[in-house]
Amino acid sequence: MTAVVVEPMRRRHIRGVMAIEQLVYPKPWTPALFLSELAQPKSRTYLVALENSRSFLRRRNVLGYAGVMVAVGEAHITTVAAHPHHHRRKIASRLLVQLLREARLLGAEAATLEVRVNNRGAQRLYAAFGFAPVGVRPGYYAETGEDALIMWASGLLSDAYADILQHQAARLARPGGDSGAADLHVPWVQQRVGLPADTGRD
Ligand SMILES: CC(C)(COP(=O)(O)OP(=O)(O)OC[C@H]1O[C@@H](n2cnc3c(N)ncnc32)[C@H](O)[C@@H]1OP(=O)(O)O)[C@@H](O)C(=O)NCCC(=O)NCCS
Repeated sequence: MTAVVVEPMRRRHIRGVMAIEQLVYPKPWTPALFLSELAQPKSRTYLVALENSRSFLRRRNVLGYAGVMVAVGEAHITTVAAHPHHHRRKIASRLLVQLLREARLLGAEAATLEVRVNNRGAQRLYAAFGFAPVGVRPGYYAETGEDALIMWASGLLSDAYADILQHQAARLARPGGDSGAADLHVPWVQQRVGLPADTGRD
């Protein structure tokens, strides 16, 4: 299995980041947008997962990346992606462990994110990090018209949340090491997401 290291994203990583961005998102961010995010280090943290090559001469490939913006005690996860050739190899989990630790250091008491309602894999990933669905933003993704599920994790500074991060970090060290995440398309989410808005249900 490819050894992976997580580091702060730098300018030199943008080319590798963009290669993934263009593969996984219908409306990719631009290099300029990433650069503007990197220019605000007091409120943003961006990380890359790199192939841990032993050779000094070889450029280390970007395998994934993730970012968070923290303002008034709230962390907003802005992006998480892994290269499609490396999915289900805990790259996103590795990034999230580090990213949420950084968010705690920046004083975040809660974290939120938007995810496509049909992106069950990502929702499961986030569930393993204590995120729960709290609502829907209809048509949030303008390029496709898809709805966003809003997810929320509270108590980031609590010991209980530190335990969640510790549990996930320990899992990364084990080969296999199932995430233990639930599939969030349980009836609650199906009701919120799957039923037409005019059913009268909340
Ligand atoms: C979602 C994404 C970031 C996951 O990255 P990854 O490195 O493959 O994730 P991990 O290997 O760390 O997965 C951790 C857990 O998440 C869940 N998960 C991740 N991808 C899944 C999928 N396709 N189907 C079902 N569960 C999935 C599983 O519970 C998994 O644990 P397991 O492998 O032990 O079962 C990746 O698929 C991706 O880049 N997708 C395109 C971009 C995207 O959708 N980003 C999220 C935007 S909100």
